[in-house]
Amino acid sequence: MTWSARTYSVFEQERTRPVRDLVAAIPTQTTRTAVDLGCGPGNSTEVLAARYPQAEVSGVDSSDDMVAAARQRLPGLAFELADIATWHATRPCDVILANASLQWLPDHATLYPRLVAQLAEGGSLAVQTPDNLEEPAHRLAREVAASGPWAHKIAGVRHPPRHEAAFYYQLLQPHCSTVDVWRTTYFHPLAGGPAAVVEWFKGSALRPFMAPLDETEKAAFLERYLAAVTEAYPALPNGTVLLPFPRLFIVATR
Ligand SMILES: C[S@@+](CC[C@H](N)C(=O)[O-])C[C@H]1O[C@@H](n2cnc3c(N)ncnc32)[C@H](O)[C@@H]1O
Repeated sequence: MTWSARTYSVFEQERTRPVRDLVAAIPTQTTRTAVDLGCGPGNSTEVLAARYPQAEVSGVDSSDDMVAAARQRLPGLAFELADIATWHATRPCDVILANASLQWLPDHATLYPRLVAQLAEGGSLAVQTPDNLEEPAHRLAREVAASGPWAHKIAGVRHPPRHEAAFYYQLLQPHCSTVDVWRTTYFHPLAGGPAAVVEWFKGSALRPFMAPLDETEKAAFLERYLAAVTEAYPALPNGTVLLPFPRLFIVATR
């Protein structure tokens, strides 16, 4: 299941807005090292580096394509091809940022405390994860997957489970001096209407559904998904769809 920096970056401005809100809320001031886990094409790393210009900022991602795009974008920073599940800091970090990446990993009960343990005293783990598994875009992907001739390949595809704010608060509070949790729904105006909603999710949530399909099946799946999305996300009179996108934010500071 590969990531495409080009497909992901089509909506870069909208996808980067939560990074700015997250990074602005990090209380850590003195920062020598900051790392961006699941850095993608470097858009989130760029925001991190702008907030901490004196710090040694680096990025980690498991996709060749994303790491190549990040290196091209920010040639002065270090980017490592690695899996967050097994990643270890070489020395304690002042800031660990993970924007829109940890939802792809299982077992948050183990993962989050393991990341906090890699912080220096006073350091912060700053995480944003989409909280949208029950939104129509996800629900319809599961329905279309289960109802077409491709069902034997993808009816069982599921994203790793997500948790409520209280789960993360209780998990991290014993290890931290403060745990700040909030949830925001962004309304992203997509000028391309329902087709743009499909393009958005092709770059992220639809990837596990599409990966096992051949090209003919992919086209048919997307056609049926677009029809369902068109009903669920009616366009405004000017053709724009306001895509509601709930996101959960956590800033946990040691
Ligand atoms: C939705 S993109 C987020 C990109 C960027 N952080 C942003 O804020 O827009 C998710 C990124 O996480 C990366 N990723 C997913 N699972 C990963 C893992 N287990 N280890 C490292 N990177 C991972 C993907 O390759 C992708 O670049």
